[in-house]
Amino acid sequence: MVQEKVQEALVQQLNKELYSAYFYLGMVTYFSNLNLEGFAHYFRVQVQEERDHALGFFNYLLKTNNPIQLPAIAQPPQNFESPLHVFELALRHEEKVTQSIYSLMDVAQEFKDHQTQVFLQWYITEQSEEEDNMTRVYNRLKLAGNEGSGIFMLDNELAQRIYTPAVIPGVTLV
Ligand SMILES: [Fe+2]
Ligand SMILES: [Fe+2]
Repeated sequence: MVQEKVQEALVQQLNKELYSAYFYLGMVTYFSNLNLEGFAHYFRVQVQEERDHALGFFNYLLKTNNPIQLPAIAQPPQNFESPLHVFELALRHEEKVTQSIYSLMDVAQEFKDHQTQVFLQWYITEQSEEEDNMTRVYNRLKLAGNEGSGIFMLDNELAQRIYTPAVIPGVTLV
């Protein structure tokens, strides 16, 4: 049985994951308009991963058999100054999501909800990988600069990113 407070925090996180997908769609638009298709592809993969994260929360919530109220999803930013600016925002966003997962874990611990704590472990590991990935590209972009051949090389590299469906213990993604 998931406590009401834990359930509310899980719904908030579901919303944040859906917002993340939307947030990254804004970035796909930006790079697509610049014809930087590798960067656009990188964020398309990111959108798919965020959708998986969201479905993980949704399916976990469904299993509890409690009614779920789905809140609205906020509008993401769509005006960016440069590719580096995009990665600055993306990295800051992931850092915020990590803090949000930690807070969610705090709520699960407060209510002694061990099952939710086990479920959240996957997300804690995932967030550390997301931050590492984003930091790596951000640092390479800083070296490459916002234009010139460096950015086209990075564009070719990011075009290689492969989407692997998330395998979240205890929940089946559909
Ligand atoms: Fe996520
Ligand atoms: Fe993320």
